[in-house]
Amino acid sequence: MCGIVAYLGPKEAYPILINGLRRLEYRGYDSAGVALLNDSLEVYKTKGKVADLENFVKEVDLRGTIGIAHTRWATHGEPNDVNAHPHFSQSKEIALIHNGIIENYAPLRSELETRGYVFESSTDTEVLTNLIEDIRKNENVSLFEAVRIALNQVIGAYAIVVIDAKDPNSLIAARKGSPLVIGIGNDDYYIASDATPIIEYTRNVVYLDDEEIALISRSSDLKIKTIRNKEKTPYVQELEMNLSALEKGGFEHFMLKEIFEQPQSIRDSMRGRLHADIGSVSLGGIIDYEQKLVNAKRIIIVACGTSWHAGLVGEYLFEDIARIPVEVEYASEFRYRNPVIYESDVVIAISQSGETADTLAAIDLAKQKGATILGICNVVGSSIARATHAGSYTHAGPEIGVASTKAFTAQVTLLTLMALRLAQLKGTITKTRFVHLLNELERIPDKVAKTLQSSKKVIEIAEKYKDVRNFLYLGRGYNFPVALEGALKLKEISYIHAEGYPAAEMKHGPIALIDEEMPVVVIATNKGTYDKVVSNIQEVKARKGQVIAIVTEGNVAVYGMADYVIEIPETEEMFVPLLATVPLQKLAYYIAVMRGCNVDQPRNLAKSVTVE
Ligand code: F6R
Repeated sequence: MCGIVAYLGPKEAYPILINGLRRLEYRGYDSAGVALLNDSLEVYKTKGKVADLENFVKEVDLRGTIGIAHTRWATHGEPNDVNAHPHFSQSKEIALIHNGIIENYAPLRSELETRGYVFESSTDTEVLTNLIEDIRKNENVSLFEAVRIALNQVIGAYAIVVIDAKDPNSLIAARKGSPLVIGIGNDDYYIASDATPIIEYTRNVVYLDDEEIALISRSSDLKIKTIRNKEKTPYVQELEMNLSALEKGGFEHFMLKEIFEQPQSIRDSMRGRLHADIGSVSLGGIIDYEQKLVNAKRIIIVACGTSWHAGLVGEYLFEDIARIPVEVEYASEFRYRNPVIYESDVVIAISQSGETADTLAAIDLAKQKGATILGICNVVGSSIARATHAGSYTHAGPEIGVASTKAFTAQVTLLTLMALRLAQLKGTITKTRFVHLLNELERIPDKVAKTLQSSKKVIEIAEKYKDVRNFLYLGRGYNFPVALEGALKLKEISYIHAEGYPAAEMKHGPIALIDEEMPVVVIATNKGTYDKVVSNIQEVKARKGQVIAIVTEGNVAVYGMADYVIEIPETEEMFVPLLATVPLQKLAYYIAVMRGCNVDQPRNLAKSVTVE
């Protein structure tokens, strides 16, 4: 989604802003722009990539030590030069960048139009810019005060930075529902929608809270108020992020790097939590809520996309070993369907970014009904991490590729640890089995590394099927969510239509699609319903479909039936998703590369979906 960078200090702003926009490219966007204040306030913006913006400003004077910049992911109005940010106010006295959506922009715009404002763009952002200008003029207040008053009239979500043509010494920033971080350097400030553009300059940051507004000034310390005019003391935190995590480290794409990081990211998710040697699991972040989990009659998991798939694996895990009913809900459906929620429910919200608008809204709803909310997030300090009662971070490190890979396996790892801990607390598992599972879980990073060792077979399969129009993915039990995730990975980065299905459901509909052109990926690992899945392979072959089977190593039976076979190491059934997902991520990756797709920034997609 949209990205924000702003700078105020003694250095030239433009290189910092452009560098920051490049760091934010991973979020997904369709236009970019920058505003610089030197003798006058100038805005340059264009449809396309940050590189297009750089070309666009080649001939202009880019001097200035204060500026704001933006990457836009279109919501109101198509992606074009005019709708790109920053937006000038009518008098060109202020310019503004904005992430989020102003829901009541239409009545605000009509009212401003009756007062003579003429709008150039179709955006909600230009409405907010002129609203601020109008208030400043009519109420004769400072810009800070005008922003504060305007934000009281706004319904919706925003992270904004405002620059004043007449004031080269300050910027104003505010947030509600869309994150904003202020980096505090020795003698300068860096503002951004996440910490990635800031980390190379300073580790000291202040995360604005919802409805907070900040005055960032050369001559005084950071000043923060709520939009209801209450003073706040800035809370400075230290970033733990590592700069190398934001670089490709020799890989061609971030996605490939992140796929290969999984042995380490899974290990990091377990670190300090899994103690196989002494037979224990400890999750410090939720320790105070363990009794709530033990007493809960039900767990509800809310999430979107890939995180929802991790939630499905969680459902199988919790029900299997901790014997507690679990419902897994798309957050976007849950929030609007008047769900039955009891105070005794524990809701687990899963989100890589920690900023997904639907998941945040689902949390709010469950909170209002008195449920206990636990979070599983990757981004430290994110909105979801802060909105939940307690939670555990996945510690997978920054995920830059838009398609989620290492975050998924880290989420599944954490859900596994939670389920194991709950099973231990509830006594639904024997000590011997518990210790056996811990030992096997500890071996998973090495097994993922083994799964990653050779890409030859996957590349061969990718070569063969890269031009097909459809793919089907089948799995049962723990492998059903794996099938869904495999299909999602393929469709989002290669634009090939792919569907994931529970294998046994194939005969209730999708079997009609099968012909000699149709590749079907079947996850047929040894345990659980293996024999039944093998029957499904035969049903596909009987209709001349092409079968790519993911099997447990040493399984020779499937070789005789499938067109291609990929082996993964043997493990406990409940840990198979952590291994079986990996070749599917690679298959999607190589097919997308061969099709010439932009793997790290697929069209139309955003890394954190901060709008409904
Ligand atoms: C798919 C993908 C998305 C996200 C979804 C939720 O590869 O990344 O489906 O999983 O948008 O995002 P988070 O986990 O940030 O809430």
